[in-house]
Amino acid sequence: TGHTTLDYGFVNTAATKSAVTYIDGDQGILRYRGYPIEQLAKHSNYLEVAWLLIYGELPTPDQLAEFDHRVRRHTLLHEDLKQFFSGLPHTAHPMSVLSAATAALSTYYEDQSDPANPEHVELNTIRLLAKLPVIAAYAHKKSIGQAFLYPDNSLGFVDNFLKLNFGVLSEPYEMNPVMSRALERLLILHEDHEQNASTSTVRLVGSTGANQFSSISAGINALYGPLHGGANEAVLDMLARIRDSGESVQRFVERVKNKEDGVKLMGFGHRVYKNYDPRAKLVKESADEVLRELGVHDPLLDLAKELEEIALNDDYFKERRLYPNVDFYTGVIYKAMGFPTRMFTVLFAIGRLPGWLAHWREMQYDPQTKIGRPQQLYTGAPERTYPGLA
Ligand code: CMC
Repeated sequence: TGHTTLDYGFVNTAATKSAVTYIDGDQGILRYRGYPIEQLAKHSNYLEVAWLLIYGELPTPDQLAEFDHRVRRHTLLHEDLKQFFSGLPHTAHPMSVLSAATAALSTYYEDQSDPANPEHVELNTIRLLAKLPVIAAYAHKKSIGQAFLYPDNSLGFVDNFLKLNFGVLSEPYEMNPVMSRALERLLILHEDHEQNASTSTVRLVGSTGANQFSSISAGINALYGPLHGGANEAVLDMLARIRDSGESVQRFVERVKNKEDGVKLMGFGHRVYKNYDPRAKLVKESADEVLRELGVHDPLLDLAKELEEIALNDDYFKERRLYPNVDFYTGVIYKAMGFPTRMFTVLFAIGRLPGWLAHWREMQYDPQTKIGRPQQLYTGAPERTYPGLA
């Protein structure tokens, strides 16, 4: 009190203590609740990691089975909520649709959304995990003019999601285990990343006493920006533009270095990682494998690798310690799976949801939590008198 320091972008200021995720940005280390991301990505699954993040420990097999069962039982959206989608243009960006529908979801549970009631919190944790993927898939279907499918609760989390996105009413849906495993792995890699902009947004909104739906909806909006989750979409647009322009990769990199028109190398750089992002390393490893297994050859992957190679050997990027981040290679994989570019950030949101829920709860249950209320240093006019009153 009485002493305000200025810290644009919160580069030096911790807003909270947290026991969820550990990052060492210099060494490129990421752990959820102490477990290395490499081990979780390889051996765990989305819901097990969600439980780990939310409750602090790995679930027992029985706990996981019950959790999985509860999530499956809550996938249905209220029929009226489906009308919500018809009021939007088919050109609507799926991220706007996702955040708006998530906020709208809360209107069905207004008497069951008290942040101070642990039963409500528990129930809405399940509801959000179950329903967000359905909303996301409907946003996708809406954008391509196809009918919505009902969730198939005989399927696990990822298969259900894939079927909702790629299944059509007129044909049985064929599971693709390669795609399921690849998507599961990508989702795990996105599940948490401590106090990034969207998670901090969820905590800040939550600190006012707002419920989980409002807080998560706000987090989705924060994630939408191209400097955050929107970067995965921006990377693919950037690669496609380079390909279509016929400009050499070297020339593009020169334009980035000269900051021509503010152009940046999307998917590069990170506030915390000053080394290779450990998630990017894993995504890069699976990109080749997944494309091969799916039988896709995408020249954009070759272009991305060329871009990375040139950047990593260039003084501009070396001096600033800019490395590929998680968004650099994910888009190529999502594209190979058949997702349109504008769904990429939505996939990030589905991935990040457990982290947002874990942080919302940590904030809610921490007795030290206060409403988030940054200070400012005032730079405006001194007191002056309204004309005619002097
Ligand atoms: N391309 C070119 N130059 C860059 C880039 C980039 N991608 N990132 C940082 N720089 C430069 C920046 O211009 C500055 O140089 P100078 O000192 O000459 O002005 C220097 O590197 C330090 O960068 P900064 O902007 O101060 O770093 P920051 O911590 O404020 O920003 C960032 C971090 C991620 C917003 C930024 O690196 C960026 O805009 N990257 C591109 C967008 C992106 O890929 N975002 C995804 C982040 S990872 C996943 C997620 O959170 O969603």
